[in-house]
Amino acid sequence: MLVTLKEILEIAEKRDCGVAAINTPTFESLVAAIRVAEKNNAPIIIQHAQSHEYINQIEMIGPAMVALAKNASIPVCAHVDHGESIEYLEKGLKLGFTSIMYDGSRLTYEENVKNTKKAVELAHKFGASVEGELGMMAGNELGEDSPDDNEESYYTDPQLAHQFVKETNIDALAASFGTVHGFYKRQPKLDYELIKEIAELTKLPLVMHGGSGLSPEEYKRSIKNGIRKINYYTYGAKAGADATKDFIKNNKAVLFSEISRVAQDAMEKNFQHIIDIFCY
Ligand code: 13P
Repeated sequence: MLVTLKEILEIAEKRDCGVAAINTPTFESLVAAIRVAEKNNAPIIIQHAQSHEYINQIEMIGPAMVALAKNASIPVCAHVDHGESIEYLEKGLKLGFTSIMYDGSRLTYEENVKNTKKAVELAHKFGASVEGELGMMAGNELGEDSPDDNEESYYTDPQLAHQFVKETNIDALAASFGTVHGFYKRQPKLDYELIKEIAELTKLPLVMHGGSGLSPEEYKRSIKNGIRKINYYTYGAKAGADATKDFIKNNKAVLFSEISRVAQDAMEKNFQHIIDIFCY
């Protein structure tokens, strides 16, 4: 059943677990995410990032996401990830998405507040939820580097986060505490005390971006300290690609439909692994 981000995060809070928020820019990843959630009776967030428009446009994959969410036996939230313009967010809401993220993290604090407030006003007209972001994540959803590679310089300021939440009235906050989008070039240094402080001050569920590549212990400690939504893309997509490469190498005549199936199964297996950790 299709639910809002606010509703799904309340379920996570009650169960004291994290919800996987999987980027599903392809049909294979979308089906894999829904299947694994249903098998585990686990709520799930499926999301489409604006930067993934080159893979599939939201007009094409969005209606499939919303339809599968409505038909699912478990609560599913269809979320627009890293929306950079109000126009793009509105497109998602008109397609039936129940949650949006406005990403103003690269703007000044004042501009971020101004635009996030606009996103909240818009989302509320559609009965949808809003995730805001404060503090900047190193890298982006495409795995590209940030201009300044000093990751710690981007960590979220707790007092400013408190003010940001009060001013914008968002439902969830993406905080930067040491994770990175894409592949890790070095061991991440997660600041658990920082998440705890932000969670206590803002009293909001917090979002981890750059959810690929952490150890089970790192995920669990993050959840224990206030993370409820874990954004996950790179390692699932890599699992699909790796299985595909092996399949092509080991089989002479292959059809694309067979490759598609192999990728879907491999992603499902990968998502099972993270769901086992998040819903502990
Ligand atoms: P990863 O690509 O590191 O899994 O992060 C995904 C993400 O944060 C999308 O918003």
